[in-house]
Amino acid sequence: MLSKKIEKALNDQIRVEAESSQIYLAMACWAEVKGLEGVAGFMYSQSDEERAHMLKLVRYVNERGGHAHVSALKAPNVTFKSFKEMFEKLFEHEVFVSESINELVHIALQEKDYSTHNFLQWYVAEQIEEEAMARTILDKINMIGNDKGGLYLFDRDIQQLTISTAASESPE
Ligand code: FEO
Repeated sequence: MLSKKIEKALNDQIRVEAESSQIYLAMACWAEVKGLEGVAGFMYSQSDEERAHMLKLVRYVNERGGHAHVSALKAPNVTFKSFKEMFEKLFEHEVFVSESINELVHIALQEKDYSTHNFLQWYVAEQIEEEAMARTILDKINMIGNDKGGLYLFDRDIQQLTISTAASESPE
């Protein structure tokens, strides 16, 4: 059985993951209308991943005797000055999500809820990967600068990243 404090903290994280999914969906739309097919595909699959993160939390809360909340969400920013700025926002957002997960782990320990602590380890590992991927992408973008040919190749390469990420994911 979840304590009220843990239930509330998990529900707050459910909202964070849902908002992440919306943010990446908005980024997918922005990229798609700009003709960046590869980037759009990457963002659509990121958006799906965030929804999967949200659902995993929802199921956990309900299974442990709590009640998962489906909250109202903030509308995300839908335009960006450049695709570099968009990926900077993605990175900043992932850092924010990592901090949010860390805080959740801290509360689980305070509450001596070792089951939730154990459950959250999956998210801790996932955030390390997500931050690392966002950082790698930003490094590539900084190398490209304003080179149009570089952007073309980046858009093509990121499709491979999406495909290989999807292939390596375990079905959950
Ligand atoms: Fe669910 Fe990208 O963190």
